[in-house]
Order: sequence, then structure tokens, then C-alpha cells
Amino acid sequence: MLGNIIGIEDNVVIIKLNVEEHKLINLLVVLQDKNVNFIGEITNVKDGVAYIKLLGEMNDDNFIFGVVRKPSLDSIVKLISKEKVKKIISTGDYLEERDLYIGKSVLYDLDINVNINDFMSNHFAILGSTGSGKSCGTARLLQNLLNKKEYIPYKSSIFMFDAYGEYHTAFLNYKDGDINFKIYTTDTNSPNNLVRIPVWLLGVDDLALLLGATKSTQIPIIEKALKIVSIFGREESEVIKIKNDIIARALIEILSSGTNSSTIRDQLISVLSYYNTSELNLYTIVQQPGYDRELYKCFNIDNTGKLRDMELIMNFLQNYIYEGYDLSYPDGSFAYSLQTIADALDFALISEGILKSDKVYDDANILKVRLHSLLNSKESEYFNYPEYISKTRYIRRLLTADNGKKAQIINFNINYIDDRLAKVITKIYSKMLFEFTKENVMKDKLPIHILLEEAHRYVQNDSDIDVLGYNIFDRITKEGRKYGVILGLISQRPSEISETAISQCSNFLIFKMLHPKDVDYIKNMVPDVTNDIIARLRILQPGNCIAFGNAFKIPVIVKLDMPNPMPTSSNCNLINTWFVKREN
Ligand SMILES: Nc1ncnc2c1ncn2[C@@H]1O[C@H](COP(=O)(O)OP(=O)(O)OP(=O)(O)O)[C@@H](O)[C@H]1O
Ligand SMILES: [Mg+2]
Repeated sequence: MLGNIIGIEDNVVIIKLNVEEHKLINLLVVLQDKNVNFIGEITNVKDGVAYIKLLGEMNDDNFIFGVVRKPSLDSIVKLISKEKVKKIISTGDYLEERDLYIGKSVLYDLDINVNINDFMSNHFAILGSTGSGKSCGTARLLQNLLNKKEYIPYKSSIFMFDAYGEYHTAFLNYKDGDINFKIYTTDTNSPNNLVRIPVWLLGVDDLALLLGATKSTQIPIIEKALKIVSIFGREESEVIKIKNDIIARALIEILSSGTNSSTIRDQLISVLSYYNTSELNLYTIVQQPGYDRELYKCFNIDNTGKLRDMELIMNFLQNYIYEGYDLSYPDGSFAYSLQTIADALDFALISEGILKSDKVYDDANILKVRLHSLLNSKESEYFNYPEYISKTRYIRRLLTADNGKKAQIINFNINYIDDRLAKVITKIYSKMLFEFTKENVMKDKLPIHILLEEAHRYVQNDSDIDVLGYNIFDRITKEGRKYGVILGLISQRPSEISETAISQCSNFLIFKMLHPKDVDYIKNMVPDVTNDIIARLRILQPGNCIAFGNAFKIPVIVKLDMPNPMPTSSNCNLINTWFVKREN
């Protein structure tokens, strides 16, 4: 017996110790009342008095977190046996097919295991300052999962967006076996496993992200462009008819704009110089009884400053109006390129009244400029897929290792591109995987994990909500769990991560954290985090974290094992790299 209860204040039981007082802090105790065994943790010891924070109750070997009643003053207070502690801080005896080994409890020298369903079927966050052990920890957790002896997590599909390209060394051994590792890279010097996204699988929202749309007025132009893409696959004669229609309508719009004649003339010439077909261009012959002229010659302005042939041109253009087509989005059933989208965007730019407003035209034109600069950059390679593939087959291919077997870890090295493109690519894949899983959920259950290193760069409160109406990561954190799409956020700057996303995480591994803004953020955003946890965060050693959430009955300090092999994330070794021996 540790001592006698001398008082209870809120959730803290105060006892007069009748044992030596050193090494008691953070140990778990049981307070045996008549019918109830309360569990508490010694949080403070001073002058022969110990303070025990009540945590919950033990019921037939089951620990239940939460305090709904208090022990009576004559309860017997004892340290808990290691066997019982195991049931509180871990899952009890390790079961390979049920549990994931996280690491060791330093305090009790016990393994800490979690139920895989409790941990991995909910979103989770791995947070901590730089160098605190997040990447090593993540690599080790995955190795713990993949290295099980008797059970193979064959159907696990873990997509890792690897901001620094550091994980491949940790998983390279998984090849040609039951567990397979697949790597994609943004390094354009590695064409064999280059990230390549078929353009025909991109929707309006994906293109909006890719082209950096920041205004909702830009969305209809992208919509129109995509719809125009769908006509480009049709018969040539039909395509010309539709192009003629779009050009003719644009010209009629200019003619009816009411602006002065010379502006109208300049606009007509400029539109026709850029947008034309073999049937409708500046040199198309306009027939009149008596004499024929080329179209541009009808744009002359007379002495009174008027476009004399206005009516003639209007009538001529009416011939090109073509009502017999409808525009719908391409359905992903045929291949096209970024260049096709650029051509379509051109046509979209003169349709739909865009020419009426300089402002709208300018916003739309930015998209065109961005698309052209993407087309002319090395980065266009990421959108150059060599053959037609359907969305389902594309995702299945992502999930298939080079040896033809199921890949469990699919690593995207996004180290070679700037943050903006990395964010776009991460979002495009996340959305694709989310939609795939959502559509597929009834047919064959294939849960997908998306782990984001440096998550604060991608999962942000950005303008997506204003432009698209949603942010894909917020959507996945809110709805993904139902379909089996689970996000793992790894970050050193949690305060920069979208609040919606972080507040939906059910489990947290928090390594040493120093930045007051981040510590405050954790305190405010994360449910169940206590001041005690916050105080401990500042003094954790590398590789040690506080784990809490759904999968942990109480918050525990865990020391993770070093990964083997390591990711390439080690601290830089100045002693080895700086020094050479002085020659005498
Ligand atoms: N489990 C561990 N046990 C002992 N030391 C560790 C452990 N994990 C990490 N370390 C040490 O901490 C260093 C940094 O770890 P790691 O690269 O995982 O940090 P990080 O939190 O990912 O940092 P960053 O935010 O900069 O990416 C490692 O090189 C290693 O020396
Ligand atoms: Mg790291």
C-alpha cells in the first residue's frame, strides 16, 4: 500500500505516502474501493504527499477511460502490477493479426501495441519539431506493419507523398516478395518511373488547381474548355462546323457590342487572325450579287465613321451558326493531351460573352498563359501519358508493383517540383483515390491510406473553398473514413494545417514540439489534450512521442525503435563532412 487518502480535489486524489517518494512520478496506481477499482496516475510528489490524477476505472481487466465518480477516502492505494499496466497502456498480449507495435514505454519497459483498426482506420497526425523523429517514426511504424511474421498486410495500399524523397531507402528491401514497394518520382531524368497523370482523367476542379485559378469566374471558362475538348474527338467536318459556330457567335457579339466602329473592326480582325477555320477566316469569300469580296474587306469604315457592311457581315455570319450540337464533358473514354486542352481553352475564351468584359477576359487569359507556360516547361512531362488508360485501370496500375504483384507502399517522390505543383499533384491524386474508393466501396473493399509528409504545405486553409467550393483534404478528413480513405498528416508546423483536417484526426503521435504557436494550436485543436501532455512535449528526446487518441486508452510516452533500414533523413554530419586533417 502506497499510503492513505487525505483529500480529494476535483480529479486529484491526495495521499500521505508511507513509502520512499522517489521514482513515483507518472506511475499508474489503483485505488481499490468497495466495488470499484479506480485507476490514476501520480502526477506530483512533495513532502511525503503524492497527487494522483484519476484516469478511469478497471472493470474485469478492462480499463475504461473517464471519471464519473470518486473513490471513498478509505480506498486502498497501490501501484499497479506490470500485467495490469499492459492492459491499460497497450492491447494486453500482442496478437499479430490484430495489433500494431508502436514502440516501448520507457517508464514500464513494456511494448506498446495498438489495435490496428483503432489506429489505422481513422485519420491520424504525426507532429513534432524538425529533427524530432517524425520521418524515422513513420518509416518504423510502416516497417512494423509490413514485417509481421505470420500475417502479411497484402491488401494494404499506402500512398506516401514524400516531400524530400527520403523514404525509398527505408522500403527498398520490399521487392519480389509478398510485400512490394513501388516508387514514382518527379525527377524528369528518371523516365521509367516518372509521375505521369493522364490528362483525360482530370476534371474541371483538377484543371482549376493546375492552372492556379483563384476566382470563381474562371471556373466556367475551364468548364467550357473541357466541353469543347469533347468535340475535338469527333469527325473533322463536325469539328469545323462547331468551331465555325463558336467563331461566328463571337464575331456577332463584337458587332452588337455597341462600341465604336474602329474598335469593332480591330476586334474582328484580331479574333479572326487567331481563331479561324478553313471555312471561316479573314479571306473567306463573301458573295454579294454583283461582286465577291474577302471577309476582311467588308470591315472597312466609311467617311461617316461607320461600318458600312455591318448588316452584310451579320447575315454572312448567320450562315455559320450551327445549333445541332450539344456540349458535354468528356467522359474519360478517349485520350487527349494538354495541347488539346490548350486549343479548347482558346475557343472557350471567345465564347460565352467573355469578350464583353475586359476584366473577365483578363482573368480567363491568365489561365491560357499558365497553360501555355506549363506546356512549354519540363513539367508538362508529368501530364504526358503514353497510351489511353481508364481511371480504374490507371489506379490499379499504381497499385501494381513492377513484378506484377500488389504494391503495398506507393511512394511519390515530389522533391523535384516546387511547392505549388507538389500541392496540385498531391491533391489530384488524393481526389482521384478518394473518388475511386467511393465508387468502388461496394464492389471490393480496398482501403487506401494517404500519408503526407510536410502536410502543412498541402493541407491548408487555401482558396479552394472559394473557387471550387471544397478542399479535397477537408473532404477526405470529413468523409473519407466511411469509404476507407485515411489521411496520415506528418508535419512540423501543425498550426499551418487546415483546422478541419487536424480536428478530424483520431490519433496523434506528437514528438518534441517547441514552437509556442504550434503548441498552442495543438492545445486548442486537439480533443483530450491536457496541460500535462503539453508540458511534456517540450522535453521529449528524438524518437520519443506522446501518443494519444482513439487507439490509446490513456496518453502514453512511447519510444519508437529506429527504422531498419533508415530513411535518408539523418541530421547532416558536419564532423564528417567539414574536416580534413591538416598537413604539416
Ligand atoms: N526512434 C529514434 N530513436 C533514436 N533517435 C531517433 C529516433 N528517431 C529519430 N531519431 C534521431 O533524430 C534524427 C531526426 O529524425 P527524423 O529525420 O525522423 O526527424 P523529423 O522529425 O522527420 O525531422 P524533419 O521535420 O526535419 O523532417 C534522426 O536522424 C535520428 O538521429
Ligand atoms: Mg522528416
